[in-house]
Amino acid sequence: MKKLYIQRYTDNQRITHWLVVVLFGMAGFSGLALFHPNLFFLTQFFGGPQWTRIVHPYFGIGVFLLFLFMFVMFVGTNLWRKSDTQWVKAAPKLVLDGDESQMPPVAKYNAGQKLVFWSMTLCLLVLLVTGLLFWQAWFATSVPIPVQRIAVLLHALAAFVMSLTAVAHIYAAIWVKGTLPAMTQGTVSAGWAKRHHQLWYRDKVRQPADTAGH
Ligand code: HEM
Repeated sequence: MKKLYIQRYTDNQRITHWLVVVLFGMAGFSGLALFHPNLFFLTQFFGGPQWTRIVHPYFGIGVFLLFLFMFVMFVGTNLWRKSDTQWVKAAPKLVLDGDESQMPPVAKYNAGQKLVFWSMTLCLLVLLVTGLLFWQAWFATSVPIPVQRIAVLLHALAAFVMSLTAVAHIYAAIWVKGTLPAMTQGTVSAGWAKRHHQLWYRDKVRQPADTAGH
């Protein structure tokens, strides 16, 4: 029997996603190079220590601006609903026992994906604002030293949370079989959609949903 595929992302959405991934990697590794002496060797990949310090903020601004496009494209489908709270409550049973029976039907994104989206949004916002505050080349001279110190701390904290979020995001994309083609090819199988995003699937195949309000 022929396998059916459903479009999940447009080419533009996928290009933006992968550009964010590349720039996020560059910002992340150049940031780590500046974070601890043990990671100083990473500076060689960015043209040496001076260049690493120069380019890191621009990579960061690049990630932020590109993510802004993703934010506008995806915010509507990532708004929190009542059923998402229900999903979070039932999630431990799914993760620990593989029991899917308590999970409410899901639209385009489940609550886990939504939490990733909002965590990334918040972390990038904190990274941008705090980064600007201690950017020596431009703004730092007009920012009081104690404010800069707090900004450095929050910058590192947001980078840490963002990295954990990215690891969780990548792990989930691999763990839930059939998810990766959504971002590599733009399509998912109808079986995947029906199993993991029932309400979105129904919407896509234009069948009346029997669960209102999702
Ligand atoms: C190698 C690394 C990565 C892989 C393999 C990956 C894979 C994926 C896949 C497969 C999806 C589609 C999921 C679905 O439609 O159900 C997705 C969506 C998404 N990814 Fe990634 N991703 C990676 C890194 C990143 C990074 C670093 C960011 C942000 C800085 C990011 C942000 C997003 C966002 C915002 C979405 C849309 C989902 C939503 O709005 O909740 N991804 N990714």
